[in-house]
Amino acid sequence: MSSQSLVLGIETSCDETGIGLYDLAQHRLAAHRVFSQIGMHAAYGGVVPELASRDHVRRIVPLIRETLAAAHAELHDLAAIGYTTGPGLAGALLVGASVAEALALALNIPVIPVHHLEGHLLSPLLASEPPQFPFVALLVSGGHTQLMRVSGVGEYVLLGESVDDAAGEAFDKTGKLLGLGYPGGPAMAKLAAGGTPGRFRLPRPMLRSGDLQFSFSGLKTAVLTATQQPDYAPEQAADLAAEFQEAVIDVLCGKAVAALEQTGLPQLVVAGGVGANTRLRDQLRTVISRRGGRVYFPELEFCSDNGAMIALAAAMRIEAGLAVPTQDGAFAIRPRWPLDQASA
Ligand code: KG4
Ligand code: ZN
Repeated sequence: MSSQSLVLGIETSCDETGIGLYDLAQHRLAAHRVFSQIGMHAAYGGVVPELASRDHVRRIVPLIRETLAAAHAELHDLAAIGYTTGPGLAGALLVGASVAEALALALNIPVIPVHHLEGHLLSPLLASEPPQFPFVALLVSGGHTQLMRVSGVGEYVLLGESVDDAAGEAFDKTGKLLGLGYPGGPAMAKLAAGGTPGRFRLPRPMLRSGDLQFSFSGLKTAVLTATQQPDYAPEQAADLAAEFQEAVIDVLCGKAVAALEQTGLPQLVVAGGVGANTRLRDQLRTVISRRGGRVYFPELEFCSDNGAMIALAAAMRIEAGLAVPTQDGAFAIRPRWPLDQASA
């Protein structure tokens, strides 16, 4: 291992402790590890912030050791440390921030604050066939649904976003009201696979709004209303889930195509947990290739929260000369932080 060429990435914004190591010399990911707290939060039907931060405290140091070992590296091989500064749960963010700052101070190396969504939208660049700038990014996670124009690292222009629930949040809430466990997204996708869309009719909110805004909270209410009809039987849940999934996908596809038209760009990059949805992937591929464009997805392991994307974002900021390293041990977290304010 060449000395001091590794960027350590630390992700603790929500319910995954993620550690990544990106090799600046070889321009590749050296190793990454994720510990998901999903099992712990499932009992409560959602993320319990205090439990999340306590578990990050328990996991983070052993996970850093494990990731270094996987890369056959040691602490003195680190050139810099990037950590998720926000947005996210304040207590959870503080765990990553304090470990990153303390480690950097001890090793006398710079720390680079990273925006969580920047990590997500750069994550497709970890794939074997990465997209080139510029592209349109569709960020679909549990907390955000956004379309961004990405011209380069740190050059992000918000084109549109959800005015209420995020796509992942809609999956989670609808899953909950259909009696599925947490997180609802993968469970809904599984249920939908055994159902037929079109047997129920749900709206495609804001599909024809003429802008790039989204709204998903009404869909959840429409599902609730459908389950309250006297002729509704629980055996129909799969058909309802399939129609719900189709409605979300129709809107995401329609707006993604509109964003490509508006920007004149041919490439779409999809990032965030909902990007793991196979039906969404298939539909996006179909509609985008039909108009001569191309869609890029992160590898499945980089769709949900992970440290690799944070290490990558920090490394790209260093390479682009954009990193604003701090080295004074003073740190700030930004639980609420719009991505376009993280631009260069
Ligand atoms: O990006 P992510 O891991 O965390 C956030 O930063 O929010 O996204 C998690 C979200 C959850 O809402 C989860 O239900 C959703 O992604 N999700 C899915 C699928 N897998 C995860 N939604 C739909 N279909 C899936 N297969
Ligand atoms: Zn995320």
